[in-house]
Amino acid sequence: MTKPDSAADPIVKVDDLHAYYGKSHVLNGVSLQVGRSEVVGLLGRNGVGKSTTLKSIMGLVHAQQGTVLFEGKPVTGMPAHKLARSGIAYVPEDRRIFRLLTVMENLRTGLDRAGMTESRRHELLDKVYELFPILAERRNQHGGTLSGGEQQMLAIARAMMLEPKIILLDEPTEGLMPRMVAQIARIIEILHREGVAILLVEQNVALTLECSRRVYFMEKGETRHHAAAADLTVDDPVIHQYLGV
Ligand SMILES: Nc1ncnc2c1ncn2[C@@H]1O[C@H](COP(=O)(O)OP(=O)(O)OP(=O)(O)O)[C@@H](O)[C@H]1O
Ligand SMILES: [Mg+2]
Repeated sequence: MTKPDSAADPIVKVDDLHAYYGKSHVLNGVSLQVGRSEVVGLLGRNGVGKSTTLKSIMGLVHAQQGTVLFEGKPVTGMPAHKLARSGIAYVPEDRRIFRLLTVMENLRTGLDRAGMTESRRHELLDKVYELFPILAERRNQHGGTLSGGEQQMLAIARAMMLEPKIILLDEPTEGLMPRMVAQIARIIEILHREGVAILLVEQNVALTLECSRRVYFMEKGETRHHAAAADLTVDDPVIHQYLGV
């Protein structure tokens, strides 16, 4: 692969990951790195294995081969709840908020953990309510009654309750109106400034280039190329090669 691959101090380093669904070889050599507080994009056509990559890092899909290092230590195959406790949050494509719990109850599920004090709980809740005023407004409303964009905000806010060092974010802007897409971009920027790393899977190339420092391109279950986001434009031949129809 060509430069720049490097994150000087990678928080997550994935090397030659392979994964199968049954007999189908879906990940075929995924290698990538995310530095501390770095936003890294992961792009590729539908079905190339972007979501499976995030699931494999998170221990939700078994990696048959390859390694995942978190803060330099191997965590390959570690169960998701343990990884979450260590500082990796995952916001899946389908968001998976609790539809029958209120917004506040959804957020509180991220706060019930060892070492959490009542004052820290309040601090974290206040922080997300400040970042997402719409969630503050709707705090007593059931998750299932929120709009798609609001549910996405809630899913990200709930991940933030875990005070993660990195968030694996799968297509956060899917199906959202432009105003909501801009909001997601703002949240990514704020998280980045606060020192949270993000591995961002997106179909929205402009947003990915705007938010990310580096971008990886996947094809047929493999990371085939990577580049500095600043060196790419939406109509770049590289974008066309890996994402064009
Ligand atoms: N649970 C599953 N069982 C069997 N095959 C699956 C499963 N999930 C995904 N696949 C297949 O694995 C391949 C990679 O899927 P994946 O969801 O990782 O792709 P993706 O890059 O995230 O695509 P999209 O852009 O459409 O979200 C696809 O061919 C998909 O059909
Ligand atoms: Mg996907």
